[in-house]
Amino acid sequence: MTAQIIDGKAISAKIKEEMKREVAELRGTGIFPGLAVVLVGENPASVVYVRNKGKACHDVGIHSEEHKLPESASEEDLLRLIDKLNKDDKINGILVQLPLPKHINEKRILEAISPDKDVDGFHPYNVGKLMIGEPIFAPCTPYGVMKMLEYSNIDLTGKNAVIVGRSNIVGKPMAMLLLQKNATVTICHSKTKDLAGVCRGADILVAAIGKDRFVKADMVKDGAVVIDVGINRLPDGKLVGDVDYDSVAQKAGYITPVPGGVGPMTITMLLYNTIQSAKKAAGKGK
Ligand code: GUN
Repeated sequence: MTAQIIDGKAISAKIKEEMKREVAELRGTGIFPGLAVVLVGENPASVVYVRNKGKACHDVGIHSEEHKLPESASEEDLLRLIDKLNKDDKINGILVQLPLPKHINEKRILEAISPDKDVDGFHPYNVGKLMIGEPIFAPCTPYGVMKMLEYSNIDLTGKNAVIVGRSNIVGKPMAMLLLQKNATVTICHSKTKDLAGVCRGADILVAAIGKDRFVKADMVKDGAVVIDVGINRLPDGKLVGDVDYDSVAQKAGYITPVPGGVGPMTITMLLYNTIQSAKKAAGKGK
């Protein structure tokens, strides 16, 4: 079997077109969704991410602000900025780009963001709401994976979903979202026994390990849906995922490429969450 490609770039473009129309309508009624992105220091990857977020907001018609603090900024400086943004009516979503410099306590910062503006879905309140199936904001990467499955008409009810990786940003919230759609969910990690065997039982396999081409064809069931959340840069500059794409694509039923798979969906869902937040602030949301 040669897998059908789940094209994250195309799905993302489609959702962005829909959002663009919705934002135009909202603006017509006096609702202007706004996102603030906070960057501390000049981590080169973070600088690129932040720029891409600003550009995506612009494309869809969302007001965006970049707040840059120097690497030397104190935790108090950052807390003061977050407090200001929490109170700013023009801002519906606040994203503090991670990782933060070592001298800043990441947990304290994430907990300072108002849960109503926590479009990353990282605040413990939102983590808890996700756990009981009532998310205000689901974290953007796993939420993007759910949208990819939805747009590809992949039914999850009763399916065995196996997630490799237990991070707070991807693995754990991914499990909650799949469970909510009635999948039977297993989370694997570095201590899992017979990882290959567990993976071979998966109808839906999500790789979020952070190791290049870790998932090989012998870990994949014929016809499985394989979602690759990894982005790894090889010494020659080439980007590869956590899945050994060339061999796995011969066996899977569906596969997401890297680049052009899950990656483009993350920013798209950030904008989506920002729009939902704006609607809610105006009394129009769920
Ligand atoms: N750094 C890398 N990915 C992310 C993300 O999804 N959100 C935030 N805030 N920082 C990140």
